[in-house]
Amino acid sequence: MVGIAGTSRQVLLRRGGPADRDWIVRSSGSTFATFGDYRDIIERWLAARGVASVVAEEAAGPLGFSIVYPHRRLGSLRPSFVELVAIVVAPTERDRGLGRSLLDRSELLARAWGAREIRLHTARENDGAQRFFLRAGFRPRTAAPSFYPRGQAAIEMARRFG
Ligand SMILES: CC(C)(COP(=O)(O)OP(=O)(O)OC[C@H]1O[C@@H](n2cnc3c(N)ncnc32)[C@H](O)[C@@H]1OP(=O)(O)O)[C@@H](O)C(=O)NCCC(=O)NCCS
Repeated sequence: MVGIAGTSRQVLLRRGGPADRDWIVRSSGSTFATFGDYRDIIERWLAARGVASVVAEEAAGPLGFSIVYPHRRLGSLRPSFVELVAIVVAPTERDRGLGRSLLDRSELLARAWGAREIRLHTARENDGAQRFFLRAGFRPRTAAPSFYPRGQAAIEMARRFG
């Protein structure tokens, strides 16, 4: 359980499962609508072998999620890196530390898989997300022009573990 800053609310962080799929897909679709139809993209990620999700929820329902995917070279159990595919907190619940809790839990998973690095792409125009990741120790790596279905550019960011 993690607390929500400024309230007495307690939120459960748990591994996602098949029952979470519809909400995650719907929520991705609305959050990332400006980048194209993300529902299909997220559905495919959720079907990928080895993928995992983390869900933040309270009794009233889910509040956020993250999706992580271990990139493994052929024949290797240890991922060469883990990709943070998406992280979303419901708009009314942002800026209270929930995103950071999801990120920390995603990193724990990556470490448990034996990875030494976590990487992600975020839109070049998404200043808020870049600030959020910078604060969490991620550093920009490369630019990816035309990364999203509608042609927006992304920045790849990465964080190496000690
Ligand atoms: C990016 C995102 C997941 C961050 O989630 P969040 O719950 O708002 O994140 P946090 O609350 O942990 O941190 C965000 C900000 O709140 C601040 N914050 C963290 N804990 C806080 C607290 N206890 N009290 C007040 N503010 C706090 C942080 O300092 C941070 O500030 P910053 O904008 O100056 O960096 C969320 O904004 C989101 O869902 N965005 C849309 C989807 C997206 O862009 N995802 C990233 C690309 S995949």
